[in-house]
Amino acid sequence: MAQTVIIGTGSKVPSRVVTNADLEKMVDTTDEWITTRSGIKERRIVTAGETNSYLATEAARRALEAADLTPQDISLIIVATMTPDMPMPSVACLVQKNLGAIQAGAFDISATCSGFLYALTVADRFIKADPRQKILVIGSEVLSAKVNWQDRTTCVLFGDGAGAVVVTGSQEGDRGILTTHLRADGSLWELLTLKGCGSRYPIDSDLPREEFFIRMNGREVFKNAVRAMESVALETLAEMGLKGEDLDLLITHQANIRIIEFLRERLAIPAEKVFINIHKYGNTSAASIPLALDEAVRTGRLKEGDLLLMVAFGGGFTWASVLMKW
Ligand SMILES: CC(C)(COP(=O)(O)OP(=O)(O)OC[C@H]1O[C@@H](n2cnc3c(N)ncnc32)[C@H](O)[C@@H]1OP(=O)(O)O)[C@@H](O)C(=O)NCCC(=O)NCCS
Repeated sequence: MAQTVIIGTGSKVPSRVVTNADLEKMVDTTDEWITTRSGIKERRIVTAGETNSYLATEAARRALEAADLTPQDISLIIVATMTPDMPMPSVACLVQKNLGAIQAGAFDISATCSGFLYALTVADRFIKADPRQKILVIGSEVLSAKVNWQDRTTCVLFGDGAGAVVVTGSQEGDRGILTTHLRADGSLWELLTLKGCGSRYPIDSDLPREEFFIRMNGREVFKNAVRAMESVALETLAEMGLKGEDLDLLITHQANIRIIEFLRERLAIPAEKVFINIHKYGNTSAASIPLALDEAVRTGRLKEGDLLLMVAFGGGFTWASVLMKW
């Protein structure tokens, strides 16, 4: 049977850099607090005209270029996002228009920070059904629009950006996606929310203003993230008869350096096999894994034949893993 392979990666981040020193002037925080608690030194924040669909389109263009394909080769565009330009149309449809991908279907997936791995898993199943297809899978976020810039417990953590991959089918040995796992626990939804502006709390509801932004119980989210990512990673490795030491690279959702470090220790993976770019971009939700993936490919950290484990966790709660041979 054909395996799903990634044949091109791309990414796009806004040019505006917001450092911890910049945040010190906006809220009661310090570079020292942000760095030691989260590992973040700076993040990218959009300026006028840089929409979610713009970032997603530019990331997709770069992934298509890397795959040596044109937009007309694409049969499906899946965008993982929790910060679409608007509830309707989807970001995927705007990307389809921007690219002129006239043969493509397009839809968004909402699975918060696990969204890219959810979207990649869906694409994997489409490829299994028809290996000739070429599918664009994108993670794109403008979280700065949904962050309360007066709330120091959240605004220091998030950033904007987009990453994209092109997948297709391959019969080349054992290269490609080996196994995927999707998980969720909606009973914990209230620990991480963005309640306002959906249909339950429309704009004229009496929901307090702060609920129109991302809110979270950081400590509880932290504990659940470590537990869930460890369990899905161990399940994935066990299923394939592997151990952490067999991996060539681990790319996790970039939410907090301490979460990544906990996971690395529990899986007994040496530090040099863990990809980290949270210091540059903060938590970019669904964009974080494809952003890291693109950087890993372009800097030579990920090479053909490498065993790559990707693990994510996010609001919902959702969590997921994808194991692949690059
Ligand atoms: C948010 C997070 C960094 C906070 O770190 P923490 O060690 O748990 O810190 P706490 O929330 O316990 O806060 C400790 C203190 O720092 C303060 N604090 C919070 N944000 C601050 C900031 N930006 N600057 C300075 N102090 C801050 C708190 O008010 C608290 O003060 P108090 O002890 O006087 O009440 C951490 O919990 C975390 O990363 N959680 C997971 C978040 C996440 O990954 N979310 C997305 C999931 S996809």
